[in-house]
Amino acid sequence: MSHTPNVAGLPKAELHVHIEGTLEPEMVFALAERNGIAPPAPTVAELRARYRFRDLQSFLDIYYANMAVLRTERDFHDLAAAYLARCRDQGVRHAEIFFDPQAHLARGVEMGTVVRGLAAALEAARTDEFSAELIMCFLRDQSAESAAETLRLAEPFLDRIVGVGLDSAEVGHPPSKFAEVFRRAHALGLRAVAHAGEEGPPEYVREALDVLGVQRIDHGVRALEDPALVARLRTERIPLTVCPLSNVRLAVVPEIAAHPLSRMLAEGLVVTVNSDDPAYFGGYVAQNFAAVRDGLGLSTNDLRRLAANSFEAAFLGDERRAQLL
Ligand code: HPA
Ligand code: ZN
Repeated sequence: MSHTPNVAGLPKAELHVHIEGTLEPEMVFALAERNGIAPPAPTVAELRARYRFRDLQSFLDIYYANMAVLRTERDFHDLAAAYLARCRDQGVRHAEIFFDPQAHLARGVEMGTVVRGLAAALEAARTDEFSAELIMCFLRDQSAESAAETLRLAEPFLDRIVGVGLDSAEVGHPPSKFAEVFRRAHALGLRAVAHAGEEGPPEYVREALDVLGVQRIDHGVRALEDPALVARLRTERIPLTVCPLSNVRLAVVPEIAAHPLSRMLAEGLVVTVNSDDPAYFGGYVAQNFAAVRDGLGLSTNDLRRLAANSFEAAFLGDERRAQLL
């Protein structure tokens, strides 16, 4: 018998989920058929069997290949609607959702097709008890010029985008490469976050804060290697959106029992628990909460702290935050 709360029932905000990472194998096949294109594997089971990853890049190769089935506004709408439908069972009251337009622009899918499709699903899901926002990510393994062009293409749609982020292959692509485009994003009134300290060093976390001016760090687990940085994250209450099942599946940590989340909580950091790419990593956000509850033996207070942190870290006004809590 568990004395810990029902983690799916615990109200929470999910702040680190890539909408393309919610593309389940069954939907890959359904969209391939609808769009008259070849699926990436002979069967759903064979596709899923490929989801054994050595590192971030081995995951990204499959993640980018699968999203080739996303072509139309309706496809992007249906992808987001499927994720949002799951939010109800996961206790998610607010979601801030990443999308990767460069991965679609490269296939000839226009910015408006992507944003209009996703935003329509988000608008339809909005109630007094639930809301969701879009965060547009730049692919850090592409050029700074490509990121700048992506932001220009997004300007007509900024009423539907709350902020910008930075994702894809981290090592060798420091945040400072994107100083200019983040400066422009701030000038446009956008919020800013960045993946840092997943595979990359603590220095990338510092750069994301000091050069890009981000308000949250996505992952950030390697920040623990630098005590002065940990002290700063604690003092400045900079949120870290941690993704436990992702970290295990991408070999950032060897197993859940070795995950540094307990240490991060003990250090007084504003950590949150999130799913990252749930169709690939074995669970949505409630499964991530359950994994750290069981694998790290987190207390009821720890789980409540994680949920409270998620609302503190969300890009919500005080009134809306109070309404969702
Ligand atoms: N890290 C970096 N880029 C990503 C990820 C991730 O975990 N998921 C999707 N793009
Ligand atoms: Zn991520």
